Amino acid sequence: MEIKGLIAAGGKGTRLRPITHTQNKHLIPIANKPMLFYPIETLVNAGIKTIGIVVPPESEREVRNVVGNGSKWGVKIKYILQPYPGGLAHVIYVAKDFLGKSKFVFHLGDNIFKSGIEKPLKKFLDSNANGLVTILKHEENWRMGVPYFDKKGRLVDLKEKPENPPHKYCIPGIYFSDHHILECFKGRDRIKPSARGELEIPDAFKYLLLRKYSVETCEIDGWWKDPGQMKDLIEVNRMILDEFDGRIIEGTIDKKSEIVGDVKIERGTKVVNSRIRGPVVIGEDCIVKNSFIGPYTSIYHKSKVLNAEIENSVILKSAEIEGVRGRIGDSLIGNFALVSEGKNGLPRVHNLLVGDNSIVDLL
Ligand code: G1P
Repeated sequence: MEIKGLIAAGGKGTRLRPITHTQNKHLIPIANKPMLFYPIETLVNAGIKTIGIVVPPESEREVRNVVGNGSKWGVKIKYILQPYPGGLAHVIYVAKDFLGKSKFVFHLGDNIFKSGIEKPLKKFLDSNANGLVTILKHEENWRMGVPYFDKKGRLVDLKEKPENPPHKYCIPGIYFSDHHILECFKGRDRIKPSARGELEIPDAFKYLLLRKYSVETCEIDGWWKDPGQMKDLIEVNRMILDEFDGRIIEGTIDKKSEIVGDVKIERGTKVVNSRIRGPVVIGEDCIVKNSFIGPYTSIYHKSKVLNAEIENSVILKSAEIEGVRGRIGDSLIGNFALVSEGKNGLPRVHNLLVGDNSIVDLL
């Protein structure tokens, strides 16, 4: 029977506010590609042909518009509504009709696995286990799902964000299961919401263990990232740009500008009297004038950078950065944001319109 893919693209996105007040987190571009495309491509590269994306009702249309029906990747994509953010196990629950009796791979929409998932997928299928979770070492495993092992190294328990994990292993956001996991939502001993009010994904796998179903583990190779907060998002952007090798110039660069290193500039973009030092990607219809764009910067479509310097940052759509003294670094600048310095000389007055949950770090 066919293996299905399931991707979680809901949640509250609290750690990326205020950006997520107006945009589904999973559509934020990383190296100018929507975050959600990375898990889709990971599943497609593993040979999965049918993918369900679980979305909240308020951003269903937005996600559909960007992702489409899967024809971009030669697969089928279906959308499943999660009526409220009930947690990651709840994502599996709302997808129960889509999953039917199939085995499936569940990929969190904000996780990126550098080396793909062929190794754990193969282990899951070869072992014929009911479930499989992946593991890897992480310094901050207390903020994730954590596996517990017995003396023989067998998985005996899983906990969400435990206070004092006994080792450094965590469980990243890719899970493999057969339909037996759906039993955890039924009956008196069904899993219950945690203190944060969510049905937690480790509890669903723990249920399988308690019911004597087999759950394997597999250590992941290559880097894995969960760009759920600003510093991680900027770091993932840097890691992905680091792998970009080449020079693609579809826009126009005037004679006074200099381009150094691996740089992609998409069509309609104009670079005037500026220096761009890669790795950098600049989307369509942007203007960069009298500016410096430094390494590990991604600028999305229709943005403007005028008389400014910026590096190691992610700029979203239609943002404007103008006349800023000092270099902007390690920053995430939202859609339609305007960042400028007063043009009226002294006295220097900071004139701000700052949205809820913004972070502004002034000199
Ligand atoms: C979620 C899961 C956690 C997992 C993590 C991976 O955490 O609940 O078990 O390790 O994703 O990214 P959350 O993003 O809800 O904090």
